[in-house]
Amino acid sequence: MILYPTDLSPLEKQYWLNFAVAPRPICFASTISANGGVNLSPFSYFNLFSTSPAVVVFSVTRRMKDSSLKHTLQNLLEVPELVINLVSESMVQAMNLSSADYPQEVNEFTKSGLTAIPAQVVRPPMVKESMIRLECRVMEIKSLGENAGAGQLVIAEVVCIHFENELLTEDGKVDATKIDLIARGGEEYYYRANASSQFRVVRPPAIPGMGIDALPDSIRKSEVLTGNQLALLASISEIPEVNPAFIDSHLQQIIQYFSINPTEMEQEVHRLAAEWLQKGNTEAAWQVLLVTL
Ligand SMILES: Cc1cc2nc3c(=O)[nH]c(=O)nc-3n(C[C@H](O)[C@H](O)[C@H](O)COP(=O)(O)O)c2cc1C
Repeated sequence: MILYPTDLSPLEKQYWLNFAVAPRPICFASTISANGGVNLSPFSYFNLFSTSPAVVVFSVTRRMKDSSLKHTLQNLLEVPELVINLVSESMVQAMNLSSADYPQEVNEFTKSGLTAIPAQVVRPPMVKESMIRLECRVMEIKSLGENAGAGQLVIAEVVCIHFENELLTEDGKVDATKIDLIARGGEEYYYRANASSQFRVVRPPAIPGMGIDALPDSIRKSEVLTGNQLALLASISEIPEVNPAFIDSHLQQIIQYFSINPTEMEQEVHRLAAEWLQKGNTEAAWQVLLVTL
């Protein structure tokens, strides 16, 4: 399907784009008005855009029903400070409850049952239950228009970062396995980012990989190796030399049984290389593949 935003209603645009740009982290923003009224609302049009200076951006869209400004934005125009509370899975229902269109004077901390605790630097309170919080000062508010759904970008500098101790290892680093945050998708779908959905991808080495285009044709056009596996093979700088010390009994068997049929042998060799890649051993995968080159 191909869609042009100019052919779509505001709600249709929201529908398709919320699926396209997902999962999105959630900025659960606490703000305060000039007369001290506290607000707490979630915004998933949110991300980190700079580390030095430390800058996050989120977007408060104009209300769909009458294109008016939401209370969060009104507060930020009065007091340009906020806390971004990252949302753990255990807070999802309270967060959802707070997103209802309560009257201006209602404090969503009270409605959601979440606990307000003072921040270090800024005036709005923080959500105690949140494991990661960013105290921020607004640098700029950039309006993207006056229509219903038009984003008002809040560009904010992070002035204080909080990580709860239980997310940390003994040597003061983040224990990634303890992270349990939620993110927003399209419609009413959410994602859960925790140990079960995390995986590591090791950064390419300092010397750039040879690239897919440098792989021999028989490997690049393999019917066995996947795109991810080809990219792993292409991540080293050049095709390695044969290592006489490399021994793989399965490879010996393949050579023995399939030498009369080179096509089948190649496929078996590729399957074995794929197994080595799955075990994270690119070097062994190459040693196996060298047999057919
Ligand atoms: C998970 C989630 C994400 C949301 N993301 C946004 C968003 O990015 N921008 C926005 O304007 N509204 C977003 N909303 C809706 C606001 O939270 C909602 O309009 C809220 O009532 C605004 O409150 P306020 O008027 O007190 O500021 C989201 C709601 C939920 C539940």
